[in-house]
Amino acid sequence: MRFLVAMTMILGLCFLGLKCAPGKIGKPGFFFGASNAAFQVEGSSIDSDWREWTRTVYPDGTPHISDKSNAELATDFWNRYDEDFRIAKEAGLNAFRVSIAWERIEPAPGVWDEKALDHYVKMIVAMRRRGLEPFVTLHHYVLPLWVSSEGGVTWKEFPSRFGEFSRHVVGRLSKPPANVIYFMTINEPTILVRFGYLDDHKFPPGINDASAASRALAGLAKAHIEAYRQIKDLGIKSVKVGLAHNWQVFEPLDKDSVSDQAIAQKVDRIFNRAFMEAIMTGDINFSMPFGETVSEKVELPDNEPALDYLGIQNYGRSYVTLSEKRPGYALSESISGPKNDLGWDLVPDALYLAVKQSADYGFPIIITETGLADREDSFRPKYLKWNFDAIRRLLAEKTDLFGYIHWSLTDNFEWAFGLEPRFGLVEIDYRTLERRTRPSLSTYAALIKQFREDFSQSDKDRR
Ligand code: BGC
Repeated sequence: MRFLVAMTMILGLCFLGLKCAPGKIGKPGFFFGASNAAFQVEGSSIDSDWREWTRTVYPDGTPHISDKSNAELATDFWNRYDEDFRIAKEAGLNAFRVSIAWERIEPAPGVWDEKALDHYVKMIVAMRRRGLEPFVTLHHYVLPLWVSSEGGVTWKEFPSRFGEFSRHVVGRLSKPPANVIYFMTINEPTILVRFGYLDDHKFPPGINDASAASRALAGLAKAHIEAYRQIKDLGIKSVKVGLAHNWQVFEPLDKDSVSDQAIAQKVDRIFNRAFMEAIMTGDINFSMPFGETVSEKVELPDNEPALDYLGIQNYGRSYVTLSEKRPGYALSESISGPKNDLGWDLVPDALYLAVKQSADYGFPIIITETGLADREDSFRPKYLKWNFDAIRRLLAEKTDLFGYIHWSLTDNFEWAFGLEPRFGLVEIDYRTLERRTRPSLSTYAALIKQFREDFSQSDKDRR
């Protein structure tokens, strides 16, 4: 009987042949890592839509980047990656998430820079040498200029171009010596669209058009499906393809207001669920208040959902209320309660709720981002403890969760806010590029250690 109970629990934690140490989720079946993205850390002066964005201003002359910084040097991760991997390893991490700069690999249509790809191979080999499992995102917000100048994610060739790029990169990185297993196609399609195509216009292309926003979501959904198809066509069994999906918890501002309840549900549909359903069924259906509905049917490879696992990213909860003005709703934070340096609510159970809600789709889940801007590191230790409580609770409830990847190991270029916000477990001195660990890195290390002890222990108890 005991054996049966243990086997059921183990099988619940393993899935689809993914690496899972029998009986031990702490090592190495459960991943603890840190996440970053190419543009935010590497340092680059290669043309891209984001590089262009950092060098230009809004029509009224306001800089696109609030602190007027840029990402030409960032943390110089391109050259210093191994120092960061060493720090991660010493803290007990066993995973690391990076992204690939498309503009480096394919600087012009169909022109492949194999040297740039070699560099990523070296980076991943260094990661593996430090015992860190690589998680690789193929698109994290940034587009080569030759793609953005044609209309970016709304360009009709975007899905096929992204599919070819994904095939090229995965074809190389999934083979020895890199042997990457876990890829993610697109980072946070709905955030890219919210900030680039809706009222927030913090990201390029910086327009405000609800119909274009729906077309952008459709382009991204088709690009994900096409990348999935192209990658699966390579026939490499070990490769798992995921999506890094932002899942914000949306609640009605006035719980008793029927209109707030309805708009909160609609916003949840637009930003959390519609994309998932598009890539699971091939029914592309995006509709925003004040915009045209975009609706089409795309064939899925083997008529199966185009997803092997789901990366969930959460940065809290938003209150939603109906608004007559565009985009038809208003999002707000709570009036009281702790906030991060950017004024975002810090909510103890937001991560738990995000994973719980997204688990309904039935995919194995890994938390691929959550974190906070906290220059003084005053709240981060507590935030990490909340997150570990969430992980334990989710596992106790048998959620198919196989890892936690914190945003971020080091400070980095925080998009429209520039270098000012500090998301790192490790501080970067931008004058010297020196890395200084913050106390929260020790908290993270201690929580990981405790987690591994507890889970191996309870596993022994079960035998
Ligand atoms: C993005 C990161 C970003 C982080 C903090 C996520 O939405 O994927 O690139 O730095 O949030 O804002």
